Amino acid sequence: MIKTLALFSSVDGQTRKICQRIGEHIKTNHDVTIIDIHGVTSVDLADYEKVILGGSVRYGKHRPDFERFLIEQSISLSTKKTLLFSVNATARKANKCSPSNNLYFIKLKHKTGIHADIEAVFAGKLHLANNSFFDRLMIKLIFKMSGEQIGDSEIEFTDWDQVDRIADAFQQL
Ligand SMILES: Cc1cc2nc3c(=O)[nH]c(=O)nc-3n(C[C@H](O)[C@H](O)[C@H](O)COP(=O)(O)O)c2cc1C
Repeated sequence: MIKTLALFSSVDGQTRKICQRIGEHIKTNHDVTIIDIHGVTSVDLADYEKVILGGSVRYGKHRPDFERFLIEQSISLSTKKTLLFSVNATARKANKCSPSNNLYFIKLKHKTGIHADIEAVFAGKLHLANNSFFDRLMIKLIFKMSGEQIGDSEIEFTDWDQVDRIADAFQQL
């Protein structure tokens, strides 16, 4: 079994769900530990051969703790087999769904200097009924500016087949 760590940074749970899906997909030959990056003070990467790193975007940014972890652990991470992914709503658009054209992903790499063996951008999920009045208003405005109307009910943009394909590629590393 290949010891694998999946670290996620998630506000509403979709990034965690994607980590769980990948973990489930590779469990035949990977022993996967899934950890919330915000719930730990330190992580010892020495125990792991492979590392999955996933973070979501809120108001244009990945969360600072996630970026900090990537910067602080960059040397250690460079000795592992890695998958880095970002989850955001912009990735629902065909021309903004890959590591080379998703601006959040490009900025994350630029800011942290991280290079992963496999990189991915996944479209996330919105369930505005669970968000604050301000957040609902802002998200609706952002969607309206790109000509889309959304309500408060759940909209899942995540392409689970894409997640499985990335999991396959990671399994083969
Ligand atoms: C308050 C709020 C702000 C968001 N800001 C952005 C944004 O700036 N760009 C974007 O592409 N997606 C944005 N999203 C969409 C999230 O990235 C998406 O919902 C994702 O699935 C969240 O993942 P998580 O549940 O793991 O936190 C935002 C969502 C919320 C609720």
